[in-house]
Amino acid sequence: MRKPIIAGNWKMYKTIGPAIELANGLKREFYKIEPADIDIVLCPVYTCLSEVAEVIANSNIALGAQDVYWQDEGAFTGEVSAPMLKDAGCTYVIIGHSERRQFFAETNDTVNKKIKAALKHGLLPIVCVGESLAEREANKTFDVLTGHVQNGLVGLTAEEVARIVIAYEPVWAIGTGKTATSAQAQEAHKYIRDLLVKFYNKELAAGVRIQYGGSVKPENIEEIMAQPDVDGALVGGASLKIESFSEIIKRGLKVKVKK
Ligand code: 13P
Repeated sequence: MRKPIIAGNWKMYKTIGPAIELANGLKREFYKIEPADIDIVLCPVYTCLSEVAEVIANSNIALGAQDVYWQDEGAFTGEVSAPMLKDAGCTYVIIGHSERRQFFAETNDTVNKKIKAALKHGLLPIVCVGESLAEREANKTFDVLTGHVQNGLVGLTAEEVARIVIAYEPVWAIGTGKTATSAQAQEAHKYIRDLLVKFYNKELAAGVRIQYGGSVKPENIEEIMAQPDVDGALVGGASLKIESFSEIIKRGLKVKVKK
């Protein structure tokens, strides 16, 4: 049984005050949720990490960052390293988000270096993969997914891959209001899992959690989470409000944790 994981990617939104307010509100909403049932993760901007860490300390909510650099320290103006993220209270880190691939020249090679650095320092990477609209229309979805998974994870042992969460985020569904159908999500997730069988082994593949991301909202979370290979969600816009994110968590939990 894979433990569901729902993460909020706050992207470049929220200054410190509103970030604390959101984290506090979510903590109040989730205090009754069993930490054993689901992993809940908040990924604020760097400047809010420590403050949000303080709010969610000793709660059932974990902290994640939105990116990481692969060197531990040095003359790398503007970058933040894995030990620094650990120091700020992070457990997770998003790596290879399509916005970083698109606007900041992230490649499978840099994704690979970042995953290795994160794992080395005990951070759990949430590795984003997914095709653009042009790639989907040109029937290249599976090729793109193969490239992202194979090259992004190159050189990692099965034990290391077991600590990774993969987020399938079709670029055309991010911030567009267009969600992949549950069948499209399941097809891609199953394909990714089969890649893990091919490159590693069946047991490993069966344990790796794969989240869906792209216009997830309370209205569609249940259908998406009901798919057998969908283990959670990486939520952008709808994670910025207490009502919508808590509704997503509650509905997602209902689908996956039947008590
Ligand atoms: P939206 O939920 O706003 O479409 O963003 C998805 C995403 O990119 C999460 O990382």
